[in-house]
Amino acid sequence: MYAGSTANAASQAAEPIGASSLQVRVLPAGESFSCPADKSILDAAHAANVLLAYSCRSGQCRSCIGRVIDGKIDYPGGLPQAISREESESGLALFCSAFAVSDLTIEILKPEF
Ligand code: FES
Repeated sequence: MYAGSTANAASQAAEPIGASSLQVRVLPAGESFSCPADKSILDAAHAANVLLAYSCRSGQCRSCIGRVIDGKIDYPGGLPQAISREESESGLALFCSAFAVSDLTIEILKPEF
């Protein structure tokens, strides 16, 4: 006789499956971190204890500049003031203002002072 019920399958629906995080790999060190859609790459890195250089956090100083080696980024607030369209098209990025739209491989560059 089958008297019991199995585990409550409905309790597994609590995970927010739609809230995907993208993976970002940082060169040259090779560290990786998850980047939620609602965080800049810099904020996601810091939340994961991957320390990227920064200063203004608003796209004006270039302290966070780096290169996108693979993948796509977006600037929800528009192209930051401190990077030209030509630089952006060549792969340079300001990670304080950039959001990942795919898994990424990025390279950290020495900031220009
Ligand atoms: S921290 Fe200043 S431009 Fe990114």
